[in-house]
Amino acid sequence: MSAMRPKLAVYPGSFDPLTNGHVDIIERGERLFERIVIAILVNTEKEPLFSAEERLEITQDVFREHGNVEVETYDGLLVDYATDRGADVIVRGLRAISDFEIEMQMALMNRRLSESIETVFMMPSERYTYVSSRLTKEIFTLGGSISGLVPEAVERRLREKSASARIDNAGIS
Ligand SMILES: Nc1ncnc2c1ncn2[C@@H]1O[C@H](COP(=O)(O)OP(=O)(O)O)[C@@H](O)[C@H]1O
Ligand SMILES: [Mg+2]
Repeated sequence: MSAMRPKLAVYPGSFDPLTNGHVDIIERGERLFERIVIAILVNTEKEPLFSAEERLEITQDVFREHGNVEVETYDGLLVDYATDRGADVIVRGLRAISDFEIEMQMALMNRRLSESIETVFMMPSERYTYVSSRLTKEIFTLGGSISGLVPEAVERRLREKSASARIDNAGIS
């Protein structure tokens, strides 16, 4: 049997915003890999709620005390980024069958682009299987409680953002 190799994993995504589902996957990843880089995609298809800079700050804040977790932003082809970082593994989370089809397609396409990087899927705790960034934003915007769905730093940032949006709308600033 070959000796255990230290593994660097990249966990890519939009993280707009980071949810406790993401945090759950990252914490599972920390147990499997030597280091894990959270790679925040700069150019998402839709206009993000939080800028790449804000998403970076929030995620760094949440994982400040995790020595084996790094946070970066990236743009362009994921396999190029992962290769540049020297990563062996791409981590993705699977919540339900609905995630499976698109994730499998992406994993196989990434394998075609780079044979040396393996995609590893992890399932979150069942209490996060229905959590998504999109629903979190929607519930918050409609005045519902998102407590327990996202880290406190995210809740705080969301409140700050909506407060400054109200001020903007009132024409005060
Ligand atoms: N609640 C959750 N539990 C587990 N994995 C999740 C959860 N929410 C999102 N993920 C996974 O985290 C990764 C990043 O998700 P996301 O931020 O939505 O970026 P993307 O735009 O790449 O889907 C994806 O693999 C996604 O399936
Ligand atoms: Mg998604």
